[in-house]
Amino acid sequence: MKLCVIGTGYVGLVSAACFAEIGHEVVGVDIDAAKVERLKKGECPIYEPGLPELLKKHLTSGKISFTTNLDEGIHACSLIMAAVGTPTGQGRRADLSQVESVCRTIGEHTKEEKVLVIKSTVPVGTSEKCQGWVEEEMTKRGVKHHVHLVSNPEFLREGKAITDFLQPDRIVVGFRDEKAGRAMRELYKPLIDQGMKYLEMDVESAELTKYASNAFLATKISFINFIAALCEASGADVEKIAEGMGLDKRIAPAFLKAGIGYGGSCFPKDVQALIKTADEYGVSSELLRHVEAINEAQRDRYVRMVEKELGGVRGKKLAVWGLAFKPDTDDMRSAPSIDILLTLNDRGAKIAAFDPVSMATAKKDLPKDVVFTTTAQEALSGADALLVLTDWDEFRQWKPTTIKGALSGNHVFDGRNIFDPQEMKGIGLIYRSIGRP
Ligand SMILES: NC(=O)c1ccc[n+]([C@@H]2O[C@H](COP(=O)([O-])OP(=O)(O)OC[C@H]3O[C@@H](n4cnc5c(N)ncnc54)[C@H](O)[C@@H]3O)[C@@H](O)[C@H]2O)c1
Repeated sequence: MKLCVIGTGYVGLVSAACFAEIGHEVVGVDIDAAKVERLKKGECPIYEPGLPELLKKHLTSGKISFTTNLDEGIHACSLIMAAVGTPTGQGRRADLSQVESVCRTIGEHTKEEKVLVIKSTVPVGTSEKCQGWVEEEMTKRGVKHHVHLVSNPEFLREGKAITDFLQPDRIVVGFRDEKAGRAMRELYKPLIDQGMKYLEMDVESAELTKYASNAFLATKISFINFIAALCEASGADVEKIAEGMGLDKRIAPAFLKAGIGYGGSCFPKDVQALIKTADEYGVSSELLRHVEAINEAQRDRYVRMVEKELGGVRGKKLAVWGLAFKPDTDDMRSAPSIDILLTLNDRGAKIAAFDPVSMATAKKDLPKDVVFTTTAQEALSGADALLVLTDWDEFRQWKPTTIKGALSGNHVFDGRNIFDPQEMKGIGLIYRSIGRP
């Protein structure tokens, strides 16, 4: 099958490479000319394990190509997939301008029937709007070609995106007419044949399944952070509680990890957009407002803990390990580290930060005074305290004695609970983590 993927960001590029891997011919389109130039040369613009290899493999096999010319992509393919961004817009609403622009361009240029798949995360009812935008542009030209709208939200996780795409827990496809349904079954046939769960539904349910999933996972994180706050007040251990809860099959252990809260390009914006959607439909969004409030409070609680233990941070040198919102990605969008470091910097701390891959992307979001070091060891040198903000495996490998030897002070504030409290305290470090005694 020949398909055109519009938007070659985290989702579009992974989708394009994986659709090529399962045998399709893919044209990747992006308006970012510099990105397209790099992609044509086989340079991967994002950090995603396995993606550079897949990209090179299919540039060589000829199954994947890139262009800035959407018109070219539209004409070459009967199936068009939009994977452009849907960031938070005004008043928490998802900003659909990139999706609208793609739909209008399709309406302006298409000369025949198409299947248009919305892979971007969009609020319920957006596919209907997409249909309207496409048709409006065709009406202006005095033409009428059938464009079959499909909602096919993406559930991949950055850092594990290739595996998630090729071995997904489920593929969700919402459509209105059988022609679209057939095209989607053909697109995913190699995965369906391998036994992957393939769910067909109406367009609105597919759109909402994505938000419901992300909001539920965000709720799990905020729930365990609420329990962590209770643990800190009562002396209980959140890790033990998470284990005790997670072994219950109805609950499951994933996303019961206490820490400095969720971030990234999806959870914060999708929770906000779902709150807005609920408000617009007159449905109470109280539950999600609390999820969001707990998440924001978690960053403040962490900063307060650092300040309290150090007796203020003015003039203190803080070593920071980890900036990305989670390990195995260079994505800094809404990373908790941004708020935490902005506050600590404002209050006079001297920050030396290290992240294995996200420092280049982090620079634009962090205060100019932050010093970026080339190793984790270098950040520790002369520091009064270590702050762990991302749970990269690289940091877990460190022996407590080596950390103690490299620090000038003896405080460790583990925002991701990666070290063993007994071990850390046993060698004389003043160790604080989230929800653990
Ligand atoms: N990042 C994730 O982990 C993830 C996971 C699941 C779903 N999603 C959803 O997928 C969508 C894309 O997310 P992302 O993280 O890949 O975004 P991104 O910002 O990394 O990529 C979007 C790309 O679209 C391009 N673009 C914008 N307008 C365009 C246009 N008119 N024509 C062609 N290209 C255009 C941009 O240049 C950019 O390269 C969002 O709706 C997001 O919520 C993201």
